[in-house]
Amino acid sequence: MHHMYNFLLLFFLSRCMAESADSLGNFCNDDTKTNGSSQTSRNIDLLLPKVVSGTVENGFIATSYGEGDARIYGLAQCRGDVSKDDCSGCIEDAAKHICQLCPDQTDARIWYDYCFLRYATVKFFGEVDVSGIYYYNIENVTDPDGFNQKLGALMDQISSEAVKPSQKGLGKGKSKISSFVTLYALVQCTRDLSDVNCAQCLAIGIGNFPTFCNNRKGCRVLYSSCYVRYELYPFFFPLDPENKSLGGGFVRYKSILAYKP
Ligand SMILES: *[C@@H]1O[C@H](CO)[C@@H](O)[C@H](O)[C@H]1NC(C)=O
Ligand SMILES: *[C@@H]1O[C@H](CO)[C@@H](O)[C@H](O)[C@H]1NC(C)=O
Ligand SMILES: *[C@@H]1O[C@H](CO)[C@@H](O)[C@H](O)[C@H]1NC(C)=O
Repeated sequence: MHHMYNFLLLFFLSRCMAESADSLGNFCNDDTKTNGSSQTSRNIDLLLPKVVSGTVENGFIATSYGEGDARIYGLAQCRGDVSKDDCSGCIEDAAKHICQLCPDQTDARIWYDYCFLRYATVKFFGEVDVSGIYYYNIENVTDPDGFNQKLGALMDQISSEAVKPSQKGLGKGKSKISSFVTLYALVQCTRDLSDVNCAQCLAIGIGNFPTFCNNRKGCRVLYSSCYVRYELYPFFFPLDPENKSLGGGFVRYKSILAYKP
């Protein structure tokens, strides 16, 4: 009973609502602890609504709030293929969740499949940052050689698409592995990156496949500057006309934390 009361009290007193979808992961940099009543903390509270509305509007925002040492820089982006509704649901959850998870840190990041949100007191826009998380399907492909050849070719193709200015950092595609199996892949850079930096971020993610995704049926690289994912089922929009269901319902993943801020 006592616990329940404490829980409710915490819930109602909290400046960030707790009810929101689970993220794939988050990072709170403990080297950047501040105090809840600091100007930086207040600026984070004022930055977040601005970040949310900008992301809902344009799918991406890089902005700041406040002055001097207490100035805080925020960046958020939705995956370019998701609907405005999915984007707005995701980024609202991200903003609610991040200040719960990182109440005292001024360098904080949160990853979802459909969006990413980050803030810090240093201006990080435009810089390649490959701190993040890997998620891999625990199952392995049956024909690694053939699979890796197709995977490499598809990654090359969608990476070169992602760096074209009109693409806003997004590349996606599919490739037939056999008459029954199709490989789907998507890459995306945050839109503050130049094409050269985007290519670099994607190359690092793909270059880490042998270490973190080796011969797995599916894998996700969630970095602070780019997203790389492949699966043997459809997972991006618009849905594949040849297989109009989003797959992945019973697939088991494991995650590896690889923060390197
Ligand atoms: C927190 O910050 C406020 C304002 O900057 C300051 O007055 C207060 O002493 C600080 N509290 C702690 C515990 O550091
Ligand atoms: C997949 O391969 C890895 C490494 O080769 C192995 O440790 C793992 O048990 C395999 N997974 C399954 C589900 O067989
Ligand atoms: C469609 O995708 C599901 C997984 O989402 C897969 O089980 C099924 O075999 C696929 N169907 C075709 C026709 O490729």
